[in-house]
Amino acid sequence: MKALIWNKDKTIEVVEKEIPKIISNEDTIVKVTYSSICTSDLHIVEGYVPKAVEKTTLGHEFVGIIVEKGKNVKLKIGDRVAVNCESFCGKCFYCKKGHVNNCENGGWLLGCSIDGGHGEYVRVPFSNYTLTKIPKNVAYKNALFIGDILSTGFWSAKLAEARKDDTVVIIGAGPVGLCSALSLRYLGVKRIIITDINNNRLNIAKKESLADFIINPNEKDVINEILKLTENKGADRVIEAAGAKNTFEMSWKIARANAIVVVPAMYEENQILPLPIMYGKNLTFKTGGVDAFCCKYLMKLIRNKKISTDFLITKEINFNDIIEGYQFFKNNKDKCLKIAVKY
Ligand SMILES: NC(=O)c1ccc[n+]([C@@H]2O[C@H](COP(=O)([O-])OP(=O)(O)OC[C@H]3O[C@@H](n4cnc5c(N)ncnc54)[C@H](O)[C@@H]3O)[C@@H](O)[C@H]2O)c1
Ligand SMILES: [Zn+2]
Ligand SMILES: [Zn+2]
Repeated sequence: MKALIWNKDKTIEVVEKEIPKIISNEDTIVKVTYSSICTSDLHIVEGYVPKAVEKTTLGHEFVGIIVEKGKNVKLKIGDRVAVNCESFCGKCFYCKKGHVNNCENGGWLLGCSIDGGHGEYVRVPFSNYTLTKIPKNVAYKNALFIGDILSTGFWSAKLAEARKDDTVVIIGAGPVGLCSALSLRYLGVKRIIITDINNNRLNIAKKESLADFIINPNEKDVINEILKLTENKGADRVIEAAGAKNTFEMSWKIARANAIVVVPAMYEENQILPLPIMYGKNLTFKTGGVDAFCCKYLMKLIRNKKISTDFLITKEINFNDIIEGYQFFKNNKDKCLKIAVKY
């Protein structure tokens, strides 16, 4: 089968690999039908993810069909499934608390330390937890983002603990920022401000009714604008989903005293937390890798048409063109939110 791997010299290539085999009773072999490329895939190729293993098949955002299963797997061969970006055992100390990102037996494995979804077949560990069945009235593409960016957006929105009348500022109108906005809206938050340097993305946020106000830092002073919109106080909640050079600093500067600042963004450099400057502001910071344990719930929301992530797909390509897809995704953020890769 064909699989896309990365090399230490920051190149990617399609190679021939063996179709994976079941190793444990909880494994399935999933034939991938659609995948997407995530900004975190680009971080891996650039060498910014320490636990990523060179020559591993990339891809942790994908859906497919079960073609083989271990004897303890409850799902059936032929079931259509969304794959969680995290594989978790469901039984360890952290899993029992819902902190599946820190599963003692799993975590972010697929496309990072074991072969992922940018190959035609994938061995999925802990399938009873890592897979979510796609119901009949949900197409593969409708469920493509459940296991990664939708989970991340939903998790970020939950961490923000926003009340309905809070002003929430989201930095970055990329897929994670937009999924955070989508989730906040679903949770009833009325006032969302989104800032991004990319006007196309800001316009999508407006068009999808995910932002009440949009601010482009290249056109307006973000801090001033937010102070104007919040009676000089600052944002009640901030979600930093940009991960750019100055956006962590922005996140706490635009927060009001006692705000919660959620940071799903993954950085390529260390960030500074200048505690003396913010002393007395009494901020709460929450950050990390998504605890993606809500996939069944998110699938239900999609099935019942409460939310949809379809608007994120701006381009569809064939798996044969995945290398060009990576280049396009990396270099055309103004034209492309997410790429759906068809197998
Ligand atoms: N925590 C997790 O588990 C998790 C999961 C998925 C993705 N991520 C990370 O979340 C981040 C966002 O992911 P994404 O797919 O949406 O990425 P993305 O690159 O598509 O989106 C980031 C957005 O930030 C904008 N931006 C850049 N500089 C800015 C600035 N100065 N002010 C405002 N906006 C600015 C960009 O224009 C872009 O639209 C990435 O760092 C990604 O690696 C984390
Ligand atoms: Zn991802
Ligand atoms: Zn576990």
